[in-house]
This record gives sequence, C-alpha cells and structure tokens, in this order.
Amino acid sequence: MNAKNTKKAINPPAGPNPVQQLFAADQQQALLDQLYQFIELEHLYESAIREVKTKLEILDSEFKAKYDYNPIHHIEDRLKSPQSILEKLQRKGMPFSCNAARATLNDIAGVRVICNYIEDIYTVAELLTSQDDVTLIKRKDYIKDPKPNGYRSLHLVIQTPVYLSDSKELVNVEVQIRTIAMDFWASLEHELKYKTNHDVSADLAEQLKDCAETIAATDKRMQEIYRTLKQID
Ligand code: GTP
Ligand code: MG
Repeated sequence: MNAKNTKKAINPPAGPNPVQQLFAADQQQALLDQLYQFIELEHLYESAIREVKTKLEILDSEFKAKYDYNPIHHIEDRLKSPQSILEKLQRKGMPFSCNAARATLNDIAGVRVICNYIEDIYTVAELLTSQDDVTLIKRKDYIKDPKPNGYRSLHLVIQTPVYLSDSKELVNVEVQIRTIAMDFWASLEHELKYKTNHDVSADLAEQLKDCAETIAATDKRMQEIYRTLKQID
C-alpha cells in the first residue's frame, strides 16, 4: 500500500470535550436539543423558500409559454443568519428560541423578485397571493407610498405550507417585489449606508432621494414605452 494513502488512526483527545468542560450534564443536553431544533428550523425555512421560488418560476414560465413574455427578470433569496435572528429577537425583547423566532420574525425566509416593469410587480403579487395554499399575512406598498428616503418596493409576508414526513408546517416568507431600477437604487443605497456606518449626511440623503425620484420617473416612462410597443405588435 502507498504510504501516502495510509490514514493515521486519530485518537480521541483525553479528558472532557469543550462542551463538557463548560456545561453541566443537564445543560449539555439542553444545548444539544436547541442546536438540533435550530437545524430543523433552518431546514424548514429553506424549504419554504424553495416552495415560493418554485411557485414564482412556474408563473414566470407559464407567461413565457402563453405570451412569450417573462414578467420576472430574476429571483434572489436569503435565509436570515443565526446571528441576525439572535440580534432581532434581542431587539424585540424575546428569548433566543426557535418558537420565539417562528412566532416573532416574518423575515427568516426572504425572497426578492426583480421584475422588468412596474405592472409586472402587481401581476406577480396578485397571482402568487391568489393561490389556494398561500395566505397573505401582511402587505406594504412602498411604491404607492415610498419611504421618506425614496425606497420603493412591494413587500408581502405570505404563509405557505411545507410538507414534512410527519406534519404540514405553515411557514412565513417575506417577499420583496421590485423593478430592476428600484433594485439598482436599493442595492446601492444599502451599500452606502453600510459603508458609511448608517450615517449619511442630510445633503447626500437628499441626493439619494432625488436619484430615487429620477429612477421612478424612468420606470414609468419605460412602462409607457412597453405598453405602446405592445399595442403596435
Ligand atoms: P424589519 O425587517 O425589522 O425592518 O421590519 P419591517 O417590516 O418594518 O421592515 P420593512 O418592511 O420596512 O423592510 C424590510 C426589508 O426591506 C429590509 O430588511 C430591507 O431588505 C428592505 N428595506 C426597507 N427599507 C429599506 C431602505 O430604506 N433601503 C433599502 N436598501 N432597503 C430597505
Ligand atoms: Mg428585515
């Protein structure tokens, strides 16, 4: 046998492991239980993201098949990190537990839908929320009522079922729907806030808002151009 392929036997370290050193026996079990519950929670929310993305992809491909048009430009998703879950629960004065996270947080699972035109946003939202197994929990239209800083998007919290081996779980998913233009602004604004440590001067904030208005006006013009071309077709 080649000496390189010979695996060395690894002897377990002598004495108690770090968890055993730090925690009493009953605490060790509680810690493990929490860890496993958290892994199950992540799996549940990851599955909910997949369910919602599949629904959106099917709607988009149906539009392509029927009308030779894709209302969705692309879809992004993210699962909230354990660190962010912990911080948000602390902010809300809640204990760090899976039950508290499920009951309190609507944005553990996040799906962002980037559409071509403003009208597509409302079409996608309407088609998604009218499905039998989808329940609309919350709707915030930051396109009709933009945030004071100029932020625009349609925010939904929907509940969708996830079928597990022994149960059906209803899971909340935050869906943000916006145009490419709105996404361009939100991504850069987020980065600027992050880079400048959340402290944008009044003058720059005004300029950013101004950019948001310009982008919104362009979105409307593009929508009109598209409508006109569609009528000609
Ligand atoms: P939180 O998630 O706790 O803020 O709860 P909420 O329901 O009050 O939030 P909201 O619906 O206003 O926004 C949730 C998400 O939308 C944020 O996590 C961001 O992803 C996005 N968002 C909201 N406002 C802004 C904004 O001003 N700029 C950018 N770039 N994104 C925003
Ligand atoms: Mg959030």
